[in-house]
Amino acid sequence: MSITDDIKDRINIVDLVSESVQLRRTGKNYTGFCPFHPNQRTPAFVVFPDTGTWRCFGQCNEGGDIFQFVMKKEGWDFSETLRYLAERAGLQLQAQTPEALAAAEVHDHLHNLLEAAVIFYRDQMLNTRAGKAALEYLKKRGLNEATLETFGLGYAPDSWDVTLKHFRGKGHSIDELLSAGLVTEREAGRAHEKGAQEAGVYDRFRNRIMFPIRDGRGRMAGFGARILNPDDVPKFLNSPQTPVFDKGRLLYGLDRARKAIRAQDQAVIVEGYLDVIALHQAGFENAVSPMGTALSESQLYLLKNFTQRVVLALDSDAAGDKATLRGLQIARQAMDREQDPVFDARGLLRHEARLQADIRVTTLPAGMDPDEVVNRDPAEWQRILEQAQPIVVHVMEALAVGRDVQDAKVKSEIAAQVIPLIEDLPNPIERDTYRQRLARFLRVDEQTLMAFNPQPRRQKARAARFAAPAASEKQPAVKPAAMSSYTLEAHCLGILLRKPNLLYLVDRHLQENGLARLAPDDFEHADHKTIIRLFQDSLDQDLGEPLDFVMNNMSLPLMDLADGLLARTEKLDPNEERVLEDLMRGLLDLRRRRLHQELDYQRFLIEESQVQGDIRATQHLQYMVKLAEAKRRIDYAMKKYSSRSPALRS
Ligand code: UTP
Ligand code: MN
Repeated sequence: MSITDDIKDRINIVDLVSESVQLRRTGKNYTGFCPFHPNQRTPAFVVFPDTGTWRCFGQCNEGGDIFQFVMKKEGWDFSETLRYLAERAGLQLQAQTPEALAAAEVHDHLHNLLEAAVIFYRDQMLNTRAGKAALEYLKKRGLNEATLETFGLGYAPDSWDVTLKHFRGKGHSIDELLSAGLVTEREAGRAHEKGAQEAGVYDRFRNRIMFPIRDGRGRMAGFGARILNPDDVPKFLNSPQTPVFDKGRLLYGLDRARKAIRAQDQAVIVEGYLDVIALHQAGFENAVSPMGTALSESQLYLLKNFTQRVVLALDSDAAGDKATLRGLQIARQAMDREQDPVFDARGLLRHEARLQADIRVTTLPAGMDPDEVVNRDPAEWQRILEQAQPIVVHVMEALAVGRDVQDAKVKSEIAAQVIPLIEDLPNPIERDTYRQRLARFLRVDEQTLMAFNPQPRRQKARAARFAAPAASEKQPAVKPAAMSSYTLEAHCLGILLRKPNLLYLVDRHLQENGLARLAPDDFEHADHKTIIRLFQDSLDQDLGEPLDFVMNNMSLPLMDLADGLLARTEKLDPNEERVLEDLMRGLLDLRRRRLHQELDYQRFLIEESQVQGDIRATQHLQYMVKLAEAKRRIDYAMKKYSSRSPALRS
């Protein structure tokens, strides 16, 4: 694959163009106003995600790919543009040296040789006796001849050198055949084994059904090869890593699936070659599969050019069994295992967040593969897809299969597996939603659930990281903006628990700035709200110290939480002024975040109501003016507390 192809695979043209041009989706494509000539009334600039190109149908009547776009927009030449886009794609750029050009030639050569191999294996399947057995087997599996031709299936003869001799006879060198992965080098010392004619090499694929594997653009990359004789091992043998075959960066069937994926705005990932083919035959043309490995980030990158929405169809045993548990707990060691593709929830969640994808998981009926399901009843496949769940929900449900969720041990075991996944999510709204969902699923209340702390070590590491910037004067104080709202809330509450008298001061400061007093609603998280409410109650009583009152009235799980909050603020600055400032900053920032969300939402409502010619737009607008005024007051107040003195000391 050339570097420019690689870059195009990784950079989504819609994302790129959207940074400078406002695009609207119109069917398969996107339109906007051309950035290269004065704006007119009609949006004449069109982006075609399918081909990765753009065109202005107006005044400039020009077009091209992402390279032309950046060159024209920035006024750069090609090499500057290449450097920029390669970096953006996260790729190491090699100079277009004579070696690089030679490599490109080698690639072309390999593509062609592999293309010839497709024809050879196909011929073996159709015109030899053993090949006909393979053909019969495939037909018995429900595939028709048109499908077999479309996917180019073939048969590798049961011999050590038929393939070798065929291609040697066509003038190909042993080196070429080795680098295409069609033959294998005999291990040293075993040179006289079996009956290979040419010294040192023999056919890699013997007595196997051959699945040609192509890259997204349809160029031949390698083969997957399935046994015909049930006693042979391994069940599947792939091409080795070659200059054109890197199985972590290819998806089987993508060349034929890309159109459907774009049209349906969804890709379905299955585990096997035959599943992909059977689904395509049944009209579900958005199916692809990895090649015996867990889904990689490069593979998701490939899909991202066509859709953000991915459904993973997993074997029912892969879902429920211990592999899932193991996959969650330990980092996967052997990424490149040939068998038993393990569902790696944590890895997938990380990819999902980083790529802003929407990955869902669906489970197949026990003991069935997608090809069996779709051959039995296509409507059933459709139903299964519709039941796909977000990864976190899938994990909860998979862990509960066949177990009694009412059992306290089972509950805490599931919580211990799922909470770390949830806490890792970067999006606070998602975190909240899943916490609630898990609490409901396990029938425990959310406070109990969150007080349950399955990974104390991680929590400590977090607290340490949190405190670190205060250790050195040179480093800026922890920036509230960089914290999740959960952390920021916890920080503020931790301060208040240590210095309850600050609550009076906070309220006074808020009022001096024309802002409302601190209220439970200033906090998003249910447990935090409860603590603030207790604080307020504590001020209305005169039986004892406010903090004693708060502590005495907490439920047990809340006590644990409070301990954690106190641990966060162990090293509070003795200078109370600074602590107050820090607290004010945190609280104001929380309010500001809330307002931002509200403003965003109102904006959305206005757009919606304008689309529908709705008079409510005016009301939303009036409300927005109010919100903006509130935000202005907070921003103003914020300036007073921005001397940046951290509340924590080393
Ligand atoms: P399966 O064993 O489930 O095979 O492996 P399958 O695709 O359902 O094949 P049939 O239906 O028995 O014919 C699923 C996928 O895992 C990879 C292959 O990509 C296979 O399609 N795999 C499996 C390997 O890479 N190596 C193996 O030894 C087994
Ligand atoms: Mn199968």
